[in-house]
Amino acid sequence: HAADAMRTDLMTLTRHVLNEQSKYPEARGDLTILLNHIVLGCKFVCSAVNKAGLAKLIGLAGETNVQGEEQKKLDVLSNEVFVKALTSSGRTNILVSEEDEDAIVVPEKLRGRYCVVFDPLDGSSNIDCGVSIGTIFGIYMLEEGQAGTVEDVLKPGTAMVAAGYCMYGSSCTLVLSTGEGVNGFTLDPSLGEFILTHPLIRIPKKGKIYSVNEGNAKNWDEPTTKYVEKAKFPTDGSSPKSLRYIGSMVADVHRTLLYGGIFLYPADKKSPNGKLRVLYEVFPMSFLVEQAGGQAFTGKQRALELVPTKIHERSPIFLGSYDDVEEVKDLYAKYS
Ligand code: AHG
Ligand code: MN
Ligand code: MN
Ligand code: MN
Repeated sequence: HAADAMRTDLMTLTRHVLNEQSKYPEARGDLTILLNHIVLGCKFVCSAVNKAGLAKLIGLAGETNVQGEEQKKLDVLSNEVFVKALTSSGRTNILVSEEDEDAIVVPEKLRGRYCVVFDPLDGSSNIDCGVSIGTIFGIYMLEEGQAGTVEDVLKPGTAMVAAGYCMYGSSCTLVLSTGEGVNGFTLDPSLGEFILTHPLIRIPKKGKIYSVNEGNAKNWDEPTTKYVEKAKFPTDGSSPKSLRYIGSMVADVHRTLLYGGIFLYPADKKSPNGKLRVLYEVFPMSFLVEQAGGQAFTGKQRALELVPTKIHERSPIFLGSYDDVEEVKDLYAKYS
């Protein structure tokens, strides 16, 4: 009867986070409040992303709004949304965004215990063609007595208390870990709630997909070249891997988490530190992949053990299925 059709045991993201919090009686609920403000930002950006194409379609209105204000690129619009949502939560202290040159210090009266590093809109090159894009975030907690300066976010990824991303694709999916596994939630637009749809995501131990921008192959180092060569021309009689590269890290990592395989943005002669930013791309995605049972490696070390010295520092990254990344580690040990 009707009740069967409508699932009634809906686990919303808010309920899920409150359940997690209830395991820590001393918790003051600050992280729950912070996460709820991040969720609000994601809902807003999801709606803006879905409308962007239409705005474009209705001609100039998409370029300048009625007051003649210059159209905000979705990068900038998303950034403003998250800065406002995070600041107004009253739980943040230092914010680092891909779109802001300097770290943002939250006004005194709104300061809290958490530092948030985020990429408000990841995969921007894919916006105009409607391919999935996303938001990535990582959360550090200030130690007692820390005043809240840039130094408080120049910490290894191992110090993160939570990380996640929201993917704006065929559906709006938020993937989150607070250190006890990875859970995926899908936005039900009719409820305006993120519903738990992917409980405790575990990445397959080995995958059949490799994900890299082959256009950079000319400049790769030897271990990366050898790894990709082996993926395409296996010598042990196994079948070649498939190449899947979307060009939005959020989408490529989401597929990797669910299907298995390896995502790589290696160093190359032109960019010795690769392209992806440590604080708000490499760390959050590495945190999630490790929490799902995979690995994340920079070519030199475990990605989460990197200690950044600048807030927009970059690092090469190899992340995904445990066994696939292990092969990359062996090649770097052998050839470098
Ligand atoms: P962003 O749009 O936030 O600047 O990030 C884009 C990144 C990442 O999403 C993706 O993995 C990578 O750029 C793709 O880079 P290439 O186009 O060089 O492959
Ligand atoms: Mn990005
Ligand atoms: Mn971005
Ligand atoms: Mn960018």
